[in-house]
Order: sequence, then C-alpha cells, then structure tokens
Amino acid sequence: MNKLKIKEFLHGGDYNPDQWLDTPEVIEKDFKLFRNAKINSLTLGIFAWDKLEPEEGHFEFEWLDRIFDKIERQNGHVILATPSGARPRWMAEKYPEVLRVNENGERILFGERHNHCYTSPIYREKVRIMNQKLAEHFGKRKSLVLWHISNEYGGACYCELCQNEFRNWLKKKYKTLDALNHAYWSGFWSHEYTNWNQIHSPSPMGDENVMGLNLDWKRFVTDQTISFYDNEVQPLRKLTPQIPVTTNFMGGNPPDSHVFYDLDYWKFAKHVDVASWDSYPNWSNDYESTEHLAMKTALMNDMMRSLKHDNFLIMENTPSKVNWHPVNRAKRPGMHEMASLQEIAHGSDSINYFQLHESRGSSEMFHGAVISNQNGADTRTYRDVQKVGEDLQRLSSLLESNYQSAKVAIVFDYDNMWALDDARTYSNATKKYWETIQNHYRFFWEHDIPVEIVSVNDDLKNYKLVIDPMHFLMTSEFATKLKRYVESGGILIGTYISGIVDQNFLSHMNGWPVELQEIYGINVKETDTLYEGQHNQLVFDNEKYDAYDYCDIIENTSAKVIAKYQKDFYAKTPAVTENKLGLGTAYYLACRTDDDFLDKFYGKVVDAFGVSNSLPIKKEDSKVSIQVRENGEDKYYFVINFSHEKAKLHFNATMQNLLTNEILKSDDELKAYGTGVYKVMRG
Ligand code: GAL
Repeated sequence: MNKLKIKEFLHGGDYNPDQWLDTPEVIEKDFKLFRNAKINSLTLGIFAWDKLEPEEGHFEFEWLDRIFDKIERQNGHVILATPSGARPRWMAEKYPEVLRVNENGERILFGERHNHCYTSPIYREKVRIMNQKLAEHFGKRKSLVLWHISNEYGGACYCELCQNEFRNWLKKKYKTLDALNHAYWSGFWSHEYTNWNQIHSPSPMGDENVMGLNLDWKRFVTDQTISFYDNEVQPLRKLTPQIPVTTNFMGGNPPDSHVFYDLDYWKFAKHVDVASWDSYPNWSNDYESTEHLAMKTALMNDMMRSLKHDNFLIMENTPSKVNWHPVNRAKRPGMHEMASLQEIAHGSDSINYFQLHESRGSSEMFHGAVISNQNGADTRTYRDVQKVGEDLQRLSSLLESNYQSAKVAIVFDYDNMWALDDARTYSNATKKYWETIQNHYRFFWEHDIPVEIVSVNDDLKNYKLVIDPMHFLMTSEFATKLKRYVESGGILIGTYISGIVDQNFLSHMNGWPVELQEIYGINVKETDTLYEGQHNQLVFDNEKYDAYDYCDIIENTSAKVIAKYQKDFYAKTPAVTENKLGLGTAYYLACRTDDDFLDKFYGKVVDAFGVSNSLPIKKEDSKVSIQVRENGEDKYYFVINFSHEKAKLHFNATMQNLLTNEILKSDDELKAYGTGVYKVMRG
C-alpha cells in the first residue's frame, strides 16, 4: 500500500474555483485568506466535470493549472478528485445509460449527483479517459499528494446492465441453480428459479422477502461499486504509482444509529491506500449531551481507523454548521477546536472542510464554509479555523505518531447488520445493532481504554478482550475462530441474538451452533422480545438491574451463572453466564441492559483481566476523554473536555502542553470544551 508522504497535518478541504472562474479576484483573495488560516491543502475538482470536459472529448485543464500554480507558490498540497460523482448534461443527453435506474425500473432524469450507473460500459469508459487525462496532465505536479476518487460512493442502480452483472455474480458464486435455490429456500411460495435470467434484484414490485437474495444484492452492490472504483483507479495506478489513492467514506452522519449502510467498508478499504471519511456530528443537538455525542463520534473515528488499522484522514467536516441536519446549529465557541482535535487524537492526519469558500447559489449555498461571501474572513468561523491551523502546526511533530495499540476489540460485521435488520422477528424498532455497539463502547471510552473495531476476517490474537454483540448471522468459520481465541486465553463477551443464521441467511440446524455451546457453556433456547416499556430484571453482584428489549432464555450446561432473571416464566433462569474454556473465559449477556449494569460488569472484567489503561493523567469527570498517540519514543495525551464546565486534571509527572508550551508540574485546568495535548517531560 502506498503511504501518504506529508510532513505536516493536512488542513484545508473542498475548494471549487470552477465556480468562480469569471471572478479571478475572488480566487486571488481566497489564497491570501488560506495562508492566514494556515490552510495548506486544497481538494480540487470533485464536481468539476463540465469545466474539465465542457464538450465530449474537449478537455480544458488550464484553469486548474493556475490553481495548482497558486497553491505551489504557497508550498501547499493538492488532493485531486476524479469528477465521477456528478456528470455533465451533454453526457446524460447523449448516453442515457449513464443515468441510474431505480428499484421500480424507472430511469432517473438528469439531476442531483451520486447517481450514475456503476455498470454502464460507457460511463466506465468516460471516467477512465477523464482519469487518464488528469493523471497525464497533473500526475507530476509536486503539490499532488493524494487522489480522491469520486465522492461518497453509495446507493444502487437497478438497470438491465446491472441485473445482468448481478446474474453473472450469482453464477460465479453458486455455480448451479440448485445451489442458489437451496440458499434462497426458493421452494417457499413456489419461487424456484428454473433459469438464471429469471433472477431480478429485490424490488417493491417483485421479491422483497427472499432473505438470501436481499443479502446477496447488498454484497453485489458493494462488489460492483468497488469494481467501478477499480476501473477509476487503474489509469492512476499506472501513471502515478507514487501517489496514494483514497475515496471519502461516510459515517452514518450524524453518527447516530448506524455506520454508513450501503457498502461493506471492510471490503472497500482493502482497495484504498488510506482510509478517509466525512465527519458531521450534530454538536449541541437537543436530544443528547455533548459527551454522549463525543463518545459516538469517537467510536466512528475508531471504526474508520480500524478499516485499515492505521491512521486515517478527515476528508470533510464543517467549520461551523451544515445545511442538512434537521436544525443547523452553529458550533459554540471552542467546539470547533474540540471537535478537530478529537479526530486528530483518534488517528486522523488531517482536518479538511467542506467547504473552503461558500458557494454563492444552489443547494449548498448556506452550508458552513471557511470563507463567507458576505463577511469574508471577518467571522467567528474563520477565526476558529485559524486557531485549528495554528494548533496543527504546533503539533506537527506528532505526524509520525499512531493511535495507541488497543487490547480491546469490538466485532462489527456488515452481513450481520444487513441480515439482522432484515430478520422478520424481534422488533424493528429495537434491534439497534450499531447502538448496541455504542452502548458497550461507552464504558471503555469513559475509562480511556482504547478500542479497535474488528471484522470477522481480522486476527483476534492481539486482543485481550473481544466483544461480539448481537452476532445474528454468524458463519461456522467465525464461531470456530472465537472458540480458538478463547481456548488460547482470550476473554470473550457475546450477547443475546447471536448465532441464529448462516451466511446464506438460512437458520442453523439442530440447536444453537455447537461451537457457541462449547464457548459459552450454555444452550440458547428462545428469545423473548419485549414491548418498549416492558422490563425484566436481573440480579448481579447483589444489585438489581433492568433488562429490556431482548431476553434470551438459556439453558446452562457448564457455565457459572452470575446473574439470573427475576420475573416472568423464565424467572430464576440464567441471564449472565461465565464459562472457562482452555486458557480463556467467555461471558454471555443474555439480555439487553442499561448502562449501569454494563458499568458494573465491565468494571469487574477490566479489573479481573488487567485491561485498564495506565495513564499519567487523572481526570475528575467522565466527560473528559484521554486519547493517546504514540511513536515508540513519546506518548501524546490528548485530553479533551466535552463538558460546558471547566475540568481539573492531575498529573503524576511533569508535563508539557504542546498547544501552549506551558510546563505543568502537577495539574492543569481545561476550560469548557477545552483541549490540552500533553507530553511527559524527560529528565
Ligand atoms: C458531503 C459531501 C459534500 C457536501 C457535504 C455537505 O456528504 O461529500 O460534497 O455535500 O456533504 O455537508
């Protein structure tokens, strides 16, 4: 993989001089303002196809050359985008097949963006030619540090070309129709396929209830999107092998209920050199505390870092507000610095914005931007950005550092997420896979214990503790992996609704999977789905805790029962179990609980197995988060106060605050939303 070669944190973002070509004085002024705000990186050309190729086969790059010249005079960097995220009108007019078809089979009109057909040979060819020209023309520019492929890939196309590719994909996977019919259990409702051409993607006008088909379609959409991306990248790799490649991923924005849903990012991440993502938390919303949103944002950053288990980039965030949250609230004073340094703390090597200069019209004219049309740089936002620019310069020695290595891993799997959401049992309102991951993560975040997110294909042996929540679709390979992990000394925590279906979304036969029975020393017999508002209770360590939403009813075989249900027909049966297997221990949490139980439970587990993080800084409040970057020689402690009140810190070594250069012997105080980046003084 090609590493990003930069000597300073990237600070900049999406810039659209293509919208200002007839007012060069605006561009001229922008560059001065960039310099003053310590902006050193421009992401160019994302949606500029009609300026780059105004007529078919006629390319105009001279305007972009001038922008490269300007940024090079300022010793800045360029992240050059390929423009496939939006097409010019001439192309859709001449080649309608580039336009996407919806799930009802209707071809969309020209408009909007991110809506091309990813199979269309013509679109692929047009993109390949464009990318080749860009690489030929700009590939040797000294400022070019990274390719930004398209923009936020997502969604699906249902045209005939895609249907055919889907059929080919299925033929490759299943080889015979018999195998496919078995996987889709097609005898149900007389749905047997007798010919490959009968296969159609899921549609509200056709089949929506064949679980295996639904799942395969999602897998296909990921593979076909990656294939489109690979086609984009091919000329770039050939002509500019030294320049790394990324595409900007999404994070579920705001990072509420799930990660971005359409594409399996574990698979996609294998094709990029560096992971990057667009981060838009809705700070100061009206339904949660700042520290709760900070926890969710921390998890999303950890997820993005974990995609490659390496540092990542923030490709977009807003310097102030967006224009698409239900309420587009301004960041309170101090919050922009707080939010930016949180991303750096979790392993980002950049803070990039959407957008550097406000668009004057159209759909994103009111979206936050570094430079405002009405007030130029005389804004709170500009000054906030300037402050972050200064911080990043002060922290430049940290660029060589990585996020601390974690002993705790949480399993997250796309197939499982899609399958669980499609399971016609339980309650759609309360499945909440990603929120369950958040609930478990919260304890570790509050206790400053680093967490890595892992896929089912990752090696688990580097982790002391693995949490595997709600693993509804579990392959027997993964169950075997978990078993080996525990046998060789791992601590595993599994939860309710696990091990129900296989990779084809067919139910496991003959009881709960044997590997899981051996790991947990129990057998799961039934799941009780509770209505919202209904509760059971469990007693753990002499304290009562509520159980709600889901209660697995289990039979103990060899485990130690450490909590029992208190109510209903399964009162006195196990609710939490502990099982020793080989050198390790596996816990099963049979029901969903509140944070107070998880605090108690994880507190004990962390103490018992030595998983806590020993830090030279003590905080008084869990609204303060301590994250560490390290480089083998030094550790850098990012201490961020997510509270609107000041916070006290105590040190057990002399510290230097790298943001202020202050030397601090024993303590410090962070203002509301304040951050300190500390290093232990040597000698
Ligand atoms: C991103 C997108 C940008 C811009 C931004 C606005 O999702 O990539 O082009 O639309 O949202 O917040």
